[in-house]
Amino acid sequence: MSNPRKIIIDTDPGQDDAAAIMLALGSPEDIEVLGITTVAGNVPLPLTSRNARIVCEWSGRPDVKVFAGCDRPLTRPLVTAEHVHGNTGLDGPELHEPTMPLQPENAVDFIIETLRNAPPNTITLCTLGPLTNIGKAFRDAPDVIDRVQKIVLMGGAYFEVGNITPAAEFNIYVDPEAADIVFKSGRKITVMPLDVTHKALTTAPRIQALRDLGTTAGTAMAEMVDFFERFDVEKYGSAGAPLHDPCVIAYLIKPELFSGRDINVMIETTSELTLGMTVADWWGVTDRPANATFMGDVDADGFFQLLTERIGRL
Ligand code: RIB
Ligand code: CA
Repeated sequence: MSNPRKIIIDTDPGQDDAAAIMLALGSPEDIEVLGITTVAGNVPLPLTSRNARIVCEWSGRPDVKVFAGCDRPLTRPLVTAEHVHGNTGLDGPELHEPTMPLQPENAVDFIIETLRNAPPNTITLCTLGPLTNIGKAFRDAPDVIDRVQKIVLMGGAYFEVGNITPAAEFNIYVDPEAADIVFKSGRKITVMPLDVTHKALTTAPRIQALRDLGTTAGTAMAEMVDFFERFDVEKYGSAGAPLHDPCVIAYLIKPELFSGRDINVMIETTSELTLGMTVADWWGVTDRPANATFMGDVDADGFFQLLTERIGRL
């Protein structure tokens, strides 16, 4: 008798977000997706909200509830990443116009009400984009913070330094104030930084295994990665692109694939030079309390085997 973990996926699709959503929807014995909440990030909110529904339909799950959230960071102008994801945010495959509805309720209200109405410590928040929706929910309704079972997020970097500035990773950089709220919330956070996601590379055999699935989801994922990887391969000269966001979902299914340390992580919110930097005390040189499990390594073969097997179910 399975007892799937109840999660809310907060996301800015994004090809790698799409992989995370497919992994979650392909794992019903492990994960029950209560809702998908979209946020402005890789591309503006109307597109992330469209893309999330496209991915659900590719996954054969038009029943999933998708809620649109914040269309800009809490205090700053929006920064997007079309240079990585293309103008649609899901460049690569041919995109259809989704027919499944966008829910009328705002994503932040959905997050707050779902946490208030569920028994405490029964809902996990999985964030794949800027933390604007979560930061706003925690700021507007601090009573829900202690009701969260777990927060697993893709964001930040230490040894890998920044990918959008020399110092900052994109998700944190876009909304450092929201990230600061989350990292100071008092809830222990499991962080998937670039340090670990840069070890989950979409090599040619791994992309071929997705293509060989011969399914709508598998083919779409292979075509998304074909597009998505060009930027990072050219920038880093690597053997493929880091598939960041599905690390969050894979951790919930097989935590043994990952390793890291419990450390203190704080967010730079004032310096223009290092804005959005995750100041990670990896070496324990301060007496700041550990607020994060900061991942540093992954069994990449095991990760891609899981990802491909579960996407193959859709
Ligand atoms: O820096 C990588 C992160 O930024 C990923 O979540 C990607 O989808 C973008 O949102
Ligand atoms: Ca993302």
